[in-house]
Amino acid sequence: MAGLVYFSSASGNTARFVARLGGAALRIPVSPKEEMPDITAPYVLICPTFADGEGRGAVPKQVIRFLNDPARRALIRGVIGGGNRNFGATYGLAADVIARKCAVPMLTKFELAGTDTDLARIRDGLTAFWGTPCSTATTA
Ligand SMILES: Cc1cc2nc3c(=O)[nH]c(=O)nc-3n(C[C@H](O)[C@H](O)[C@H](O)COP(=O)(O)O)c2cc1C
Repeated sequence: MAGLVYFSSASGNTARFVARLGGAALRIPVSPKEEMPDITAPYVLICPTFADGEGRGAVPKQVIRFLNDPARRALIRGVIGGGNRNFGATYGLAADVIARKCAVPMLTKFELAGTDTDLARIRDGLTAFWGTPCSTATTA
């Protein structure tokens, strides 16, 4: 799957989901000591939520670091949220926060490592998303 970047903590749910999606994807490292991936093309970011009871800290610190770089932030085109509905109002909140801050669409959310249905709909959704003609494209 072209143009995919993701973060996944030690529990590895998002990593398992991305692996099942198939195709190339770049991982934002858990450790700040590891190098950030080299971003040269537009991407969709898949990010799980780690909020406290008040919704603070929803976006993982390493994802904030990743997006603080203007060149990397300029290439984000959409965001997909990982989460767990047990958290209620903060379900997949990181994706909403990132979408707002980066002014890109929040495409969808999925729980934990996703179901087979999530996989199929997100695979199809990404294909459709990247297949959408760029609105600034001109026709001859
Ligand atoms: C400390 C902690 C806080 C969490 N807070 C939320 C939350 O506010 N909303 C939510 O949807 N999921 C929350 N989750 C669930 C994770 O987003 C979910 O388990 C996700 O699949 C983790 O992805 P990963 O294993 O790839 O890191 C939280 C998990 C942890 C461990």
